[in-house]
Amino acid sequence: MKTFGARLLAAFAAVLALCGTSPGVSAAGSAAAGGAQFRAKCGICHKAAPSANSIGPTLYGVFGRKAGTAPGYHYSDAIASAGFVWDEERLDAFLKDPRAAAPGTKMSFPGLPDAGQRADLVAFLKSLGPGQP
Ligand code: HEC
Repeated sequence: MKTFGARLLAAFAAVLALCGTSPGVSAAGSAAAGGAQFRAKCGICHKAAPSANSIGPTLYGVFGRKAGTAPGYHYSDAIASAGFVWDEERLDAFLKDPRAAAPGTKMSFPGLPDAGQRADLVAFLKSLGPGQP
């Protein structure tokens, strides 16, 4: 299943690969937009610094990290036993509808229907830490 969102993300990933992922350069215009969204929509529960668990686990380095493995955070079984690594598609699906993508998750977030906003957020999450490609 190749949705429009998935194609958009793939195109976006290609642009990122060409331009690098550091915030501030043009492809990172989206990472910057994602950062603003992160502060508005995720920041109440998540921090982006290393080891900064809060209501939710730190999202520092979440891209490329196995789900449910931020040190010191107590996850639901749904995430702890998910067994996958967070990549573009997993993050996109989870942000679109957390409870559909990970039934039983304790993340109380209704989901983001806008594929462009999700792409921005994923770009921002990619820029955060050691999991960068
Ligand atoms: C109301 C609080 C809350 C909000 C808002 C929230 N989250 Fe979460 N998030 C959580 C909790 C709690 C968990 C742990 C879920 C579990 O263990 O089932 C989580 C888990 C996650 C994970 C999995 C992390 C891992 O280490 O496997 C990701 C990715 C994530 N959130 C991203 C986001 C993003 C991006 C946003 C903003 C669009 C967001 N969350 C908004 C509470 C929240």
